[in-house]
Amino acid sequence: MDLTALRKDFPTIRSGKGVYLDSACQSLRPDKVIQAIVRYYEETPSCGGRSVHGMGAKVSITVDETREALADFFNTDDPDCYSFCKNTTEALNTIAFGLPLKKGDVIMTSDSEHNSNHVPWLILTERRGLERKYAKTTDEGEFDLEAFKESMDGTVDVVSVQHASNVTGCVMPVKEITEIAHDYGSTVVIDGAQAAPHMKVDLNDIDPDFYCISVHKMLGPSGMGVMYGRSDCLEKLRPLMYGGGTVGMTAYDSVSLMPHPEKFEAGLQDYAGIAGTKAAIEYLSDAGMENIEKHDRDLMRRISSGTEDIDGLSVLGPANPDRRGSVFSFNIDGMSPHDIAVILDEMDGIMIRSGLHCAHSLFQGKKLTGSARASVYLYNNNEDIDRFCNALRQAAEIFGGKS
Ligand SMILES: Cc1ncc(COP(=O)(O)O)c(C=O)c1O
Repeated sequence: MDLTALRKDFPTIRSGKGVYLDSACQSLRPDKVIQAIVRYYEETPSCGGRSVHGMGAKVSITVDETREALADFFNTDDPDCYSFCKNTTEALNTIAFGLPLKKGDVIMTSDSEHNSNHVPWLILTERRGLERKYAKTTDEGEFDLEAFKESMDGTVDVVSVQHASNVTGCVMPVKEITEIAHDYGSTVVIDGAQAAPHMKVDLNDIDPDFYCISVHKMLGPSGMGVMYGRSDCLEKLRPLMYGGGTVGMTAYDSVSLMPHPEKFEAGLQDYAGIAGTKAAIEYLSDAGMENIEKHDRDLMRRISSGTEDIDGLSVLGPANPDRRGSVFSFNIDGMSPHDIAVILDEMDGIMIRSGLHCAHSLFQGKKLTGSARASVYLYNNNEDIDRFCNALRQAAEIFGGKS
């Protein structure tokens, strides 16, 4: 991966818009993705799958090619197993509310989930009387596989876990989790929002029933997500929304649904977003997911060594930076996470995230009111990290340690 050349592909880096360390929220976009979006509006601003004119046919081809690119990227055979949606949150809601779950059925998630993989199940427990169980993570945030094995039994209907945490960065052993859960006949749902952008994800090997991603965290357009499901699982899943595009035939008193993926894509789709998704997947494939994973790890190591002498710094997640994925969550004694974020931005244009990172229950469990979080991606370089570490050290010296 030629980092100097790669950085030139990103307009906000080229124009010196500061040091972006908030990629766990949304990534920057390269020219190729932006151009794919603009090209849709300039050249083929029409509807896919319905209009038979030439312009519409081109859009339909792009939609098909994007599904094919996804199937290839995740090493699966059937492009029709990928439905487009807004984000991981919508994909997880579709699954939670679309599975034929009833009173007394049991859902197991980890105790460290993002709200998107917590709240839909929680609402279901309230509305349909489902039961909820929590698989433990350790103090550092690692998934406790032994405890999970012991807590599993044939009563658990669904196991829904994140592949990587947006707070601790820990990557969960999803292949082992899936194997164990399948042994007990449970449906396995994986929230891939933080893993898919940063590592090679082989869905053929992991073999989950469902896998959800946010394309805007992986160089793609804002508000684009994808729900993957194994064919047999998608056949049993009810859509969250109904209407145009989802039906084969309707009469005044009857309706027959299209097969997947169309039955999950109600109404006119974000065709510019789908074109941008294809460009993003191609860009990541060209860069190489193994290269990206290694690059993230090198940057995490540099953050660790660059911050270890900062007084009052406490890090959430594993002490070993190699276990922290692409995320560095931390607190400084005497400073609120929001103050840290504002000060770093004002000091040197360094953009990080602060707060509860939509993982309220995890922070409650740790009795913490939040954290600051720097998250890296393929376009960050050593200079970005050094600027972050230096600004943080200075901020801690001036404002820290006073509480
Ligand atoms: C682990 C995890 N799951 C789910 C989500 C939700 O993603 P989105 O807001 O794109 O739906 C996020 C977002 O940060 C996340 O980090």
